[in-house]
Amino acid sequence: MVTIDKVKVLISGEELSQKVNELAERINNDFAGEKVIVIGVLKGSFMFLSDLVKKITLPAEVYFIEASSYGAGTQTTGVVKISKDVERDLTDQNVIVVEDIIDTGITMEKVMELLRARGAKAVKLCACLSKPSRRKVDINIDYLGFEVPDEFVVGYGLDVDEMYRNLPYIGVVENAD
Ligand code: IMP
Ligand code: MG
Repeated sequence: MVTIDKVKVLISGEELSQKVNELAERINNDFAGEKVIVIGVLKGSFMFLSDLVKKITLPAEVYFIEASSYGAGTQTTGVVKISKDVERDLTDQNVIVVEDIIDTGITMEKVMELLRARGAKAVKLCACLSKPSRRKVDINIDYLGFEVPDEFVVGYGLDVDEMYRNLPYIGVVENAD
């Protein structure tokens, strides 16, 4: 039989849902009367993004970009690869980039730089989680869900070697021994 390791819950589904409501309300207020272009960073943001956009009451378009600075395992290589880009013209648009977690910040620094060069009216960053103790570059998070300690977290879209993305909460894997 296939089993999964025990996961200690750090942030429950209820807490996530409450925070998503708060973030969406701020976005709805900040961009009232305007359209937003929401860009999810694959794959980690998929669950956070889908919950968030359901609470955005503004006219919105949704796109995805795929960027990674990680290979297998948990250490950044520092090299950011864009394997799927957004094809839409971003000139004069309000762009909200949605990411799962800002760790060293290296991935998002590159993605934000790339998108900012495309003539948008605003490019804002919305991240579900942040690990400030691990930051290597200065990055401003406009809409942040939660700060987490320096532990490798999984669930709600976040993985370790592609596992645990489907958990409806954020947790830490507790190895069997
Ligand atoms: P950064 O470039 O170091 O900020 O790395 C960001 C990316 O690394 C995130 O988008 C995640 O995909 C991944 N990552 C960083 N920390 C964690 C973690 O604790 N759990 C799962 N993925 C993580
Ligand atoms: Mg990611």
